[in-house]
Order: sequence, then structure tokens, then C-alpha cells
Amino acid sequence: MTILALVLLCNNDVKMKANLGLIALIVWALSVVLLGYFFVRGWTSAASDQRTAIHLAPAERDLVLGEMRQMLHSVHNLVTGLSAGDAKIMEQAARSSGMAMAADANPLLMAKLPLDFKRQGLSVHRDFDSLAEKIAGGADQATVLREFTGITARCVGCHTSYRLP
Ligand code: HEC
Repeated sequence: MTILALVLLCNNDVKMKANLGLIALIVWALSVVLLGYFFVRGWTSAASDQRTAIHLAPAERDLVLGEMRQMLHSVHNLVTGLSAGDAKIMEQAARSSGMAMAADANPLLMAKLPLDFKRQGLSVHRDFDSLAEKIAGGADQATVLREFTGITARCVGCHTSYRLP
């Protein structure tokens, strides 16, 4: 009798462990799917003006908009350097919006931004660095302008698609 009870108990224990294992697996699979979903879609909704609204906490929004104003500053300095024919000013302007600017990105903010936004944002920083290299290598005015309009086209493209409500 005691042996039978013990066998039943053990059996139950094994079953419970199997169930727990299954639950853990389901929770794990759900979190992978959820994480993947947010990694691609970000924290977004449709906005009233056809754009995609990205929902950020106030401090995250301030950070992103601060980077934007820094990039506008780079645009202004670059054009200033270009009109003055001053390569040093141009190089510095481009460099200050390069990849170094994106290095301090926090993981939660990254999760909220859609994949396409992250891709466009990173490519703009990369293009600023590559422009700085070309200026340092002695690129002429026409080349700098051509590369530069490639960058401003990206500013326009992203602003057409996204907003921070
Ligand atoms: C990856 C997407 C993306 C790229 C690339 C991008 N921006 Fe933005 N920018 C945004 C979004 C989104 C906003 C918020 C717009 C809104 O809510 O209407 C914004 C806002 C701004 C603002 C307003 C800042 C403020 O304080 O309100 C400026 C200035 C700006 N961007 C400049 C630029 C410049 C210059 C470039 C290119 C060198 C650029 N942005 C490239 C997404 C982008």
C-alpha cells in the first residue's frame, strides 16, 4: 500500500515536472515571438497624417529630438563650410553626426523604435562618417554636395514616414 502510494506520488511528480517544462517552453517561445515582433514593429501606431507614430517616454523623445537638432546643426555647419571653402569646418560638421553619436543608444529605446527607423537612422550616421572621410581625403565641392544631398534625402524620407506624437 505504501509502495503504491509512493509510486503514484513519484508519477505525479514526474507529470508535474513535465507540465512545468512545457509551460516554461511556451512562455519562452511567446517571449521570443513578442520580442521579435517589437524588434521589427517597435512601439508604434497609425498617426492621423498617414505617418507612423512612435510612442516614446518623454526622456527618450527628448533624446531622439536632441540628436535631430544636432544633425540640423551639422547640416548648417556643413553648408557654411562648403560656402566658405573650409574643409576643416565641413569635416568637423559631418563627423559630429557620425556613428559616435549613436553609440550611447539604450536597449529599451532601441526596442521601441521600428527596425526600418533604426536602419535609416544608422545609415545616416554612417553616411556622415563616410562624408567626413571623403572631405578629409580632399573631395571637391561637387562631390561633397552630391554626397550631402544623399544624406538630406534620408532626412526627408524618414520625416515623411514617422512622427513622435
Ligand atoms: C530614422 C528617421 C529619421 C532620420 C533619418 C532623420 N530624422 Fe529628424 N526626426 C525624425 C522624427 C520621427 C522626428 C519627429 C517629427 C515629428 O514628430 O513630427 C524628427 C524631428 C526632427 C527635428 C525637430 C527636432 C525638435 O526638437 O523638434 C529636426 C530639426 C530634425 N528631425 C532634423 C533632421 C535632420 C537634419 C536629419 C538628416 C540629417 C534628420 N532629422 C534625419 C526622424 C528622423
